[in-house]
Amino acid sequence: AETHYHQFVVQTVPVKRLCKTHNILTVNGQFPGPTIEARDGDSLAIKVVNAGPYNISIHWHGLRMLRNPWADGPSYVTQCPIQPGGSYTYRFTIQNQEGTLWWHAHTSFLRATVYGAFIIYPKLGSPYPFSMPKREFTLLLGEWFDRDPMLLLRQAQFTGAAPNTSIAYTINGQPGDLYGCSSRETIRVAVDAGETILLRIINSALNQELFFSIANHMMIVVGMDAAYTKPLTTGVLMIGPGQTINVLVSADQTPGRYYMAARAYQTAQNAAFDNTTTTAILEYKNWNKQKRQSSTPILPALPAFNDTATSTAFTAGIRGLSKIKVFTNVDVNLFFTVGLGLINCTNPNSPRCQGPNGTRFAASINNVSFVLPRTTSLNQAYYQGIPGVFTTDFPPVPPIQFNYTGNVPRGLWTPSRGTKLIKLKYGSNVQIVLQDTNIVSTEDHPMHVHGFHFFVVGSGFGNFNPATDPARFNLNDPPVRNTIGTPPGGWVAIRFKADNPGIWFLHCHIDSHLNWGLATALLVENGVGPSQSVIPPPADLPQC
Ligand code: C2O
Repeated sequence: AETHYHQFVVQTVPVKRLCKTHNILTVNGQFPGPTIEARDGDSLAIKVVNAGPYNISIHWHGLRMLRNPWADGPSYVTQCPIQPGGSYTYRFTIQNQEGTLWWHAHTSFLRATVYGAFIIYPKLGSPYPFSMPKREFTLLLGEWFDRDPMLLLRQAQFTGAAPNTSIAYTINGQPGDLYGCSSRETIRVAVDAGETILLRIINSALNQELFFSIANHMMIVVGMDAAYTKPLTTGVLMIGPGQTINVLVSADQTPGRYYMAARAYQTAQNAAFDNTTTTAILEYKNWNKQKRQSSTPILPALPAFNDTATSTAFTAGIRGLSKIKVFTNVDVNLFFTVGLGLINCTNPNSPRCQGPNGTRFAASINNVSFVLPRTTSLNQAYYQGIPGVFTTDFPPVPPIQFNYTGNVPRGLWTPSRGTKLIKLKYGSNVQIVLQDTNIVSTEDHPMHVHGFHFFVVGSGFGNFNPATDPARFNLNDPPVRNTIGTPPGGWVAIRFKADNPGIWFLHCHIDSHLNWGLATALLVENGVGPSQSVIPPPADLPQC
């Protein structure tokens, strides 16, 4: 195993898209940021130097960080942010993970532009469970904003409203051919006729779930979120923010140019986005020697933005290839309602009050809207014994039971606020059922758990029924993921062993929802002895 050293200098640079230049925050002046490549078992030391104007921290999304929450990154959860002029070196080892992950800023909305791919190859000599193509390409799906993301940040923090100013979706930072003033830089993937390639697709968008498709070409899904899957042939993917999907694509069509395209699925923003599709081009080498080709690439048919049936069928059709069996005995049974809410404003004229009837938007789990500490991080508070920062009384079930997916009475729309955590014993077998609610709007919430991969054992529409639904769980070959959509008006059940001590964030990966409080954190206690305990914090851990 090797150790890889990187330096990430966070800095603002001018970037031009759609004929307009914005100053955006980047790593090393690159947008998207640098790709990290390593093998399973390798160690990394990534020095993040904050040469930008804002507090920041970087999260290594999906890396398990065993016993090492200090390297996980979310601001005020596992560390205080790195202040302007400061630096912090993230040191960690990859332990039993292979596939595609990514990294992103984890402070307020800064991940709008601060993100990149994190690719983990198998240990030298260790095989893939499929025939690995000679060539691979990474496609980072994202969003582009019509103003400096710093203003987004202000808008999000100070108005509590969604940043609805993203004006384009992007592939590797480029809006693509279908937007004005963008086609010259459209990303091209060149293939030889007949070859098969691996595409690593990452949804790094701030607030948008996306459908993805390639004209005339099928895709074979072989991995998700750095876990292998049984091969699944599909014409369309649905990928939520935070998720990654690896697919094999064979260049088996008439040599030519074909759009690879992504378009919105879900969220309240789509009205403005319906006709807006980001594209890259799959381009056969020497295609233009074939006389019959026209010069405009073929566009794939993408599902409509509200096509929940297609999205859910795709996600529920995935089968895992994990060597680890899912446990059948559950020690801790948690039932979480996830959804939006409204909080009454004391001053309805304040710019924060962008909800209906003098309210501001909120979001919650089990009716608790999560509040981040500001004076220290949860980890520092716990391991350094700073009192009064959080409590461990997060409700394991909703405080009031109601018809979650029915017509929810207005009296149940207002969450309470708090910094409440869930305490878990080391090694306990945890099941969480995530239940969407019809409060304010019915949406797919891509729920992410830090520090763990989990089995997705079941999902369905309507209210989860504890008497009948568990009998239909897939305990045989469930997929392993780190981010899973709670179907709109439905539920999803996940299981994982709490064998990673530390405090781990659990939240919706739509950043506006996270900012409104759709989060909690798991406090996994130390087990017996050093091999089951959190390592000491590094000396350069930032202080608040
Ligand atoms: Cu990719 Cu807490 O996030």
